[in-house]
Amino acid sequence: MDLRGLTVVLIGGSSGIGLATAAAAAAAGARVVIAGRDASRVDAAVASIPGLVGVEADVLDDAALEHVFDVAGRVDHLVQLAAHTSGGRIADTPDSQLRRSLDVRLWGSIGAVRHAIPRLTEASSITLVSGVVSARPTPGTAVAAASAGAVEALARALAVELAPVRVNAVCPGAVETPMLERALGERYDDMVATMGANLPVGRVGTAAEIADAILFLATNGYVTGEVLHVDGGHRLV
Ligand SMILES: NC(=O)c1ccc[n+]([C@@H]2O[C@H](COP(=O)([O-])OP(=O)(O)OC[C@H]3O[C@@H](n4cnc5c(N)ncnc54)[C@H](OP(=O)(O)O)[C@@H]3O)[C@@H](O)[C@H]2O)c1
Repeated sequence: MDLRGLTVVLIGGSSGIGLATAAAAAAAGARVVIAGRDASRVDAAVASIPGLVGVEADVLDDAALEHVFDVAGRVDHLVQLAAHTSGGRIADTPDSQLRRSLDVRLWGSIGAVRHAIPRLTEASSITLVSGVVSARPTPGTAVAAASAGAVEALARALAVELAPVRVNAVCPGAVETPMLERALGERYDDMVATMGANLPVGRVGTAAEIADAILFLATNGYVTGEVLHVDGGHRLV
């Protein structure tokens, strides 16, 4: 893969899957612009990968997003990874908490795409990120599942609306990242082992494996409107 001369923008690029994608894109020669809310995480990412450009931005903040894309200039590949995962059963969880999941994943994706549009070329691509919860929900994940499913539908619809720009989504299963660590807390090691053992491939995924799928969608010029499941077979069991 040769990304020399191309600019890749990663909203949510300072950690986990986004950071792994930044590393892979930079290794392929891309100019990589990452954005995230926490300045120290952005700085740490920039310090760890030569050539990275970091911008502090919340995907729901229009002015901050505009600054990200001003810094980026022409956008060859946009990847939107920002998400908010805390949910709860709809019977006893306040709307404000449930809405945050939809706000960040769905409206964050819409905002990122909207700001990118003036900087896209006909050869550009957009990759959104959903999650296996869209197909394999558990109690307490209804709104997270709806948010992930909405982003998959958004990718298909934007593939038509923004053509010939290609728009796809990656749907990861369980992946060893700081997000999963936060979600599982002290049970992390045990849960990762148990979850992995229950999957067809026998383990949870790595951030690099999802990054690989993201860059496949970004660079294969004949794939659009696709949802690529990279979940170790999670949807099947
Ligand atoms: N890990 C898994 O098991 C798994 C499974 C299914 C789907 N996914 C999806 O994969 C994507 C990446 O997850 P990850 O596991 O790599 O998580 P992660 O390590 O927590 O990274 C999330 C990234 O998004 C940024 N971010 C979060 N909220 C943001 C906001 N409002 N505005 C801008 N940036 C924001 C974070 O930085 P700041 O916090 O500093 O803003 C960070 O850079 C997410 O969409 C997640 O739902 C992950």
